Amino acid sequence: MMVSCAGKHCIEVTPASKTAFISEELCIGCGICVKKCPFGAIQIINLTKDLDKDTTHRYGANTFKLHRLPVPRPGQVLGLVGANGIGKSTALKVLCGKLKPNLGKFNNPPDWQEILTYFRGSELQNYFTRLLEDNLKAIIKRQDVESIPKAVQGNVGQLLDKLDQRGVKAQLCIDLELNQVLDRNVEDLSGGELQRFAIAGTAAQSADIYMFDEPSVYLDVKQRLKAAQVIRSLLRANSYVIVVEHDLSVLDYMSDFICCSYGKPGAFGVVTLPFSVREGINVFLAGFVPTENLRFRDEALTFKIVEAQENAEEIETYQRYKYPTMSKTIGNFKLTVMEGEFTDSQIVVMLGENGTGKTTFIKMLAGRLQPDTVEGAEIEIPKFYVSHKPQQLETKFQGTVSQLLHQKIPESCAHPQFSLQIFI
Ligand SMILES: Nc1ncnc2c1ncn2[C@@H]1O[C@H](COP(=O)(O)OP(=O)(O)O)[C@@H](O)[C@H]1O
Ligand SMILES: [Mg+2]
Repeated sequence: MMVSCAGKHCIEVTPASKTAFISEELCIGCGICVKKCPFGAIQIINLTKDLDKDTTHRYGANTFKLHRLPVPRPGQVLGLVGANGIGKSTALKVLCGKLKPNLGKFNNPPDWQEILTYFRGSELQNYFTRLLEDNLKAIIKRQDVESIPKAVQGNVGQLLDKLDQRGVKAQLCIDLELNQVLDRNVEDLSGGELQRFAIAGTAAQSADIYMFDEPSVYLDVKQRLKAAQVIRSLLRANSYVIVVEHDLSVLDYMSDFICCSYGKPGAFGVVTLPFSVREGINVFLAGFVPTENLRFRDEALTFKIVEAQENAEEIETYQRYKYPTMSKTIGNFKLTVMEGEFTDSQIVVMLGENGTGKTTFIKMLAGRLQPDTVEGAEIEIPKFYVSHKPQQLETKFQGTVSQLLHQKIPESCAHPQFSLQIFI
């Protein structure tokens, strides 16, 4: 049984008598209480609640409030992970000096002297002192790469030339697969190309503090790894690298230590103390911060891994769907598929680089694309009932989401379970 005292009353249960009483003393959830149940029947934990101390910044009255800050260390990559809307980007803006932290006093913002005094004794004092006094240069790869074309226009190659203070453009263009888009204009780039352009533009400049806000969005697995290598290559003994990242494998690969963010999206956010990479990722997954004895999510995020091999007899009972060896030629791209099968009770994941034909394969299975003919004969694909969510999210439908669903799948919409899971 788990009970939260949330700083109110401490509940104690005597297992022998099975009676509960409420002690009048305030419980802070320290975990070392002498009145603690010796049988471990009750755990006192803290829950996330709006803090009234450690405020680093508040945008205004009744607006989002950020508590504490991630603590960067020179010569190491700091990873920051947490849900959306809990102040990660705000923390980066504060750390790069673009947003002067007001310590919650939005009506009467403090000056830097007061801010430095506030951080006295912590690693942040050293960081902000260096940022201000040594005039450290901080640059940030913004999160919303889609809005880059509004801010910068022109030719990708020429823009990178201008930014290339470190003389590394050629290598960055190879690593980030930008050579094929150097002649294009920024407004013509796809999401992934914009992301790689933004990373290259940031990494090409010489700075003391590099920040990357969600660098793997739009990138495939290989590109994410390459981007992570580029970001790590920016480390120098005295420079700082800070990355906000949701992809836990990239975060694991890239970071030297991790801070987690938790809170209530849109209302407040709290940054934890730094953890080792392994510990930080486990804290995030568990939704529990051991150092603060605090639970910030009701459930742990778990990956369901099949522990035992599935029973062979059971697998035999699955319905099988076979597809033949086939190929598809589109321009000078040719996809070859070896024959295979899948069952109705297993989820199959297809993984591969962008541009290797995953969508083409799916379309052939769905009957939307005819495979190449073999010696004049058409390849026969068994008829599957396929529902296909396309990669590109475009619709020509004029109307509401609900109207479209009712038009396309009226039977499903009438089904109570479907409407419970989808509409509510
Ligand atoms: N200039 C601003 N004024 C008021 N609220 C803001 C401002 N910028 C961001 N916010 C709010 O602060 C919260 C945290 O935003 P953000 O730092 O972008 O979160 P994250 O990066 O973790 O998703 C959001 O609710 C956002 O709407
Ligand atoms: Mg953000």
